[in-house]
Amino acid sequence: LRIGVLGCADIARRRMLPAMAASAATEVYAVAGRDDERARELARSFDCRPVHGYRALLDLADVQAVYVPLPAALHAEWVEAALRAGKHVLAEKPLTTDPERTRALFALARELGLVLRENVMFVHHGQHTAVRELVADGAIGRLRGFHAAFTVPRRPDDDIRYRRDLGGGALFDTGVYPLRAALHLLGDDLELVGAVLGAGPGREVDTFGAALLRDADGVGVQLTFGLEDAYRSRYELWGTTGRITLDRAFTPPADHAPIARLEQDSGAVTEIRLPAEDQVRNSVERFAAAVRVGVPADGADDPQEAAVLRQAVLLDRIRTSAGLVQPAG
Ligand SMILES: NC(=O)c1ccc[n+]([C@@H]2O[C@H](COP(=O)([O-])OP(=O)(O)OC[C@H]3O[C@@H](n4cnc5c(N)ncnc54)[C@H](OP(=O)(O)O)[C@@H]3O)[C@@H](O)[C@H]2O)c1
Repeated sequence: LRIGVLGCADIARRRMLPAMAASAATEVYAVAGRDDERARELARSFDCRPVHGYRALLDLADVQAVYVPLPAALHAEWVEAALRAGKHVLAEKPLTTDPERTRALFALARELGLVLRENVMFVHHGQHTAVRELVADGAIGRLRGFHAAFTVPRRPDDDIRYRRDLGGGALFDTGVYPLRAALHLLGDDLELVGAVLGAGPGREVDTFGAALLRDADGVGVQLTFGLEDAYRSRYELWGTTGRITLDRAFTPPADHAPIARLEQDSGAVTEIRLPAEDQVRNSVERFAAAVRVGVPADGADDPQEAAVLRQAVLLDRIRTSAGLVQPAG
């Protein structure tokens, strides 16, 4: 699959382009930047074609698919432009900052017979399937609670995540992960109970937050996220007879051998070793496979699409229901 890239983004350079170049299923065909020199430099590293400007890349007939690692607020415009240019699209998370745009883009992709995927990579790691199976097998009894956190340390002040006009903020950048984890493990039937968003000193966007949701059985879902906090990437599931904890849940390196820690009422603590997996490569290769297989003509429901849509609605509810708190000092 010949892929064109819109923007010389850090995530493209560090993670996605190396995975696309290493995979037999994909080829990095062209990289477009607003700045010629940056595009040339990145294209040299991946032995592909530099292009000046995003529009010019979409005009290349040989590009079959487009990867969109732009700031969140620009995703909708360029995903739509790429689809209208007849390209399959893999877009960074969040797919858009507005649930109606997300819904409309999926409808457009379907109408045009094109694949559209959001690049939340952790769902492509088998460790979560293993945890889901443990819960389904009754390892912790009946599920009562889920707590997930993704918090990352402060970034340089000029980072796109601190810009309101570019769709920055902790909710869109880090909140997506624990929210998607809840949807991935518990299903799409979650409702928001309440939420908090806070802005660190001098910030125009939310830089930390929390949300409480519940499922149809009353299982409580607590989410914590932040952009200027001590690092944490973990979730826990509580049940009537035990608890499962998974660390390094969201961005494990390819050689990381995960351990799911199971604590049971009997006092038994079991560390379950799971296979290491490369979730970046998995995400790239599953996108390429989806393009190969093609969009079902009967419009069959795609579970990934349903999760992205529900995620978009819940992100919006969290954003609109939580007033932005600006702590003193
Ligand atoms: N899936 C994941 O694990 C993961 C991880 C990190 C980030 N992300 C997502 O990837 C996206 C990019 O994140 P990043 O950290 O790679 O950001 P970044 O390094 O700042 O890259 C953003 C790119 O967007 C382009 N751009 C276009 N208009 C811009 C503007 N007005 N201001 C700044 N940049 C502009 C720039 O490319 P040119 O100047 O070359 O055109 C820039 O290189 C975000 O949506 C983020 O949420 C996903």
